[in-house]
Amino acid sequence: MSVRDPNAGATGGAAAGAVAPLSGCAALVTGASSGIGAATALALARLGAEVAVVARRTERLEELAAVIRGQGGSCTVLTADLADPVQARQAVDDAAGRFARLDVLVNNAGYVAMGTVEHSDPADWKRMVDLNLNAVLHMSQTALPHLLRTAAEGPRGVADLVNVSSVGGRVVRRNNPVYSATKHAVGAFSEAMRQEVAARGVRVGLVEPGMTITEMATGAGRAAARDLPQNAWLRAEDIARAITFMITQPPHAAVNEIMMRPTAQEH
Ligand SMILES: NC(=O)c1ccc[n+]([C@@H]2O[C@H](COP(=O)([O-])OP(=O)(O)OC[C@H]3O[C@@H](n4cnc5c(N)ncnc54)[C@H](OP(=O)(O)O)[C@@H]3O)[C@@H](O)[C@H]2O)c1
Repeated sequence: MSVRDPNAGATGGAAAGAVAPLSGCAALVTGASSGIGAATALALARLGAEVAVVARRTERLEELAAVIRGQGGSCTVLTADLADPVQARQAVDDAAGRFARLDVLVNNAGYVAMGTVEHSDPADWKRMVDLNLNAVLHMSQTALPHLLRTAAEGPRGVADLVNVSSVGGRVVRRNNPVYSATKHAVGAFSEAMRQEVAARGVRVGLVEPGMTITEMATGAGRAAARDLPQNAWLRAEDIARAITFMITQPPHAAVNEIMMRPTAQEH
């Protein structure tokens, strides 16, 4: 992988001398070895957060960490298979232990295998349920005491949990039943958890990307490209911008949900 920072050299970060908006914050981003997770980790680091990144491919994470450190940021690499609840919970504990706090958790790791009920493989169903849903449940519960403590005691007065769902979490299509089911479940879980913790300063946000150029969407036999030419798709950095928009709101304001599609995507 060549990790590319589209904002390198741009003036989108904190102005010289100004305090970066997430300075002093610690963030954990799942599925950061590629795509949206990598772009989000870079964006959070540029905003001043110390980041921990987790996925299975350690070398890809190390490459990302080198880019972040090269820009003066801090990045901790954690390797885990988040489909395993024990490893998923441990990743949160490791990140929170490393930073002695946790301000932000971005549950981004995901897997898609297209296919109708009749013709899809139950092994793929399990992979999607374990990663897209169960990992989100386990990591959110494990992170919650840390996020509540940060919200109560930290200088920002809030903490953030962002779950990356999908347009498929709102719009059902017949060739994508299980992925869509997991993402709908993430949406329901996010809203219930938002209500549970809203009064205690933890913001729970849901981001629903449309077609985005990443390995998931462009890999052989993965997500259907439908009729949209790839040059019209979103870039991972577009979704990272939506995520950082949520996280950098003032403490009294919570952006609960963002669906972001390519301009030309109809459904
Ligand atoms: N791209 C799109 O068009 C699109 C549209 C809607 C929603 N989304 C959502 O966006 C999120 C990010 O996807 P992406 O598009 O950025 O795809 P991606 O580039 O394929 O990234 C997926 C990430 O998940 C990680 N991952 C997969 N299985 C894992 C496991 N068992 N344990 C730990 N990490 C695992 C991968 O890392 P390793 O392989 O190194 O483990 C990778 O970092 C997903 O939740 C996806 O459903 C994407």
